[in-house]
Amino acid sequence: MEKILVATDGSETANKALGYALQLAEALKADITVISVAQEVPMAMSHEGITNADIARFKDNMLENMKKSAQEALNKAEKLFEQKGVAVNTRLEVGDPARVITDVAEKESFDQVIIGSRGLGGIRGMVLGSVSNKVVNSVKTNVTVIR
Ligand SMILES: Nc1ncnc2c1ncn2[C@@H]1O[C@H](COP(=O)(O)OP(=O)(O)O)[C@@H](O)[C@H]1O
Ligand SMILES: [Mg+2]
Repeated sequence: MEKILVATDGSETANKALGYALQLAEALKADITVISVAQEVPMAMSHEGITNADIARFKDNMLENMKKSAQEALNKAEKLFEQKGVAVNTRLEVGDPARVITDVAEKESFDQVIIGSRGLGGIRGMVLGSVSNKVVNSVKTNVTVIR
């Protein structure tokens, strides 16, 4: 059975990627895993009156929020598949999104990655976002970019 990894950040384009994965699931009986990565914010700073504990708390807060939105993106994906009665696996990971998507795809022998061209943020006018750009350039498995 074809193993497919779909990346979502909850964006409109990622939703399109999920719709495409759903079609493949129905047509090929593919085994679909939806992944959403909560990005850890790398932050180093020092400032008078700001303690390391303040910074740690801030980072924890950011990460909690990132995890929440990643979970929401996964819930949305789950609903989409559920509506069609198609089974789907979901997973929440923490780290650098492109790195994690690439590692999971390769280490767990996925046959294909499906990713949106653009996501929630970034610079207008770019054909690919930073995450999709990095995945397309680094992952050794087949990648389908949905626009
Ligand atoms: N944190 C994330 N977890 C999982 N997939 C992601 C994440 N961020 C982006 N993606 C995937 O990469 C695609 C492109 O997003 P991205 O490269 O971040 O573009 P942008 O720069 O416009 O935000 C998204 O449609 C989604 O499929
Ligand atoms: Mg993005």
